[in-house]
Amino acid sequence: MIFQTPKSSGQTDIEWLKYSRWCAKKCIPPIMIDLYHLIERRLQKSRQCLHQSGLPLLKRTFLDELFPGSKDYTVAVPMQHLYADIGSLPLAELTILGAISRYTNPRSVFEIGTYRGLSTLAIAMNTSDDTELFTLDLDKQNRNVTKYPMEMGGIEASSFPVGEYYHGSVHERKIQQLYGDSANFDFAPFTGGIDLIFIDGNHLYENVKTDSFNAFRMLRSKGVIIWDDYHAGYPGVMKCLDELAESKPLVRIAKTRLVVYRSDR
Ligand SMILES: C[S@@+](CC[C@H](N)C(=O)[O-])C[C@H]1O[C@@H](n2cnc3c(N)ncnc32)[C@H](O)[C@@H]1O
Repeated sequence: MIFQTPKSSGQTDIEWLKYSRWCAKKCIPPIMIDLYHLIERRLQKSRQCLHQSGLPLLKRTFLDELFPGSKDYTVAVPMQHLYADIGSLPLAELTILGAISRYTNPRSVFEIGTYRGLSTLAIAMNTSDDTELFTLDLDKQNRNVTKYPMEMGGIEASSFPVGEYYHGSVHERKIQQLYGDSANFDFAPFTGGIDLIFIDGNHLYENVKTDSFNAFRMLRSKGVIIWDDYHAGYPGVMKCLDELAESKPLVRIAKTRLVVYRSDR
C-alpha cells in the first residue's frame, strides 16, 4: 500500500522508499501520508488558482494590530501630494508609511525608488532630526544599462529631476540621494545597518526578488521592511511576496497595497 502513495514533487524513488521506511518505523499509518500529500497538492493548486485570479494571498492586518498605538498618531503628509502624479504614493500609503516611520523611529532608512521624492519626504517628515535617509534611483544618464528590463514611465522617461519634492525642503539635509540600478548596486556598506527599508523600484519579479534579498541583508536585527504595490496590477510583486511569505511573516496592511515585515514578530 505504501508504494501506491503519491510522491511529492521532486522526490526520487530511493528518497521515497527511505521516507516510507522512516514512517513505518515511527508507526505513522500510510493513509496519513496519502492524506498529507493530497492536502499539499490541493493547497498548491488553489495557490496557483489564486495567483492567476490576482487575489491577494497574504494575511491582511490593520496597522494598529502590527504597530499597537499607531492609530492615535498624528502623521505629517507632504503638501506636494496634492499635485503628485500616478508614479508617487497615494494618500493612504503615504500616511501609513509616515505612521510606520514614526513608530519605528529609525536611525537609518533605505528607500529603493525615489521618483519625485514624495515617499522620501514623508519618511523624512516623520522621523527624528538625526535620522539618516538613503534613497536610490536610476541615474538618468545610464538608464539603458539596467540588469532587468525597464518598466514604462519611470524617472528615466520624465522631465523632472530625481527627488525634486524634497529639494530645498528643511528635511533635505537628512537625505542622501544615491544613483544606480538596484539590481547591480553595491549594498555591502549598508549590511546589517538599516532600521527601516522601503521598496518601491522596478516591479518585475526578478528585480523585486533581488531588492528583497538585499533588503534582508541590510536590515538590522530589529527592523522593518515595507513593499509597495502588492496588487493585481503588478503580478511580479505579488508572486515574489507570496513566495517570500512561505518563509517570512509578511502581512499586507488593510485598505492599502503595502506589505510589511517586522523582524521582531
Ligand atoms: C513608483 S516610482 C517610486 C515612487 C516613490 N517611492 C514615491 O512614492 O514618491 C519607482 C521608481 O523606481 C525607479 N526604478 C526603477 N527601476 C529601478 C532600478 N532598477 N533601480 C533603481 N531605481 C529604479 C524608477 O526610476 C522610479 O523613479
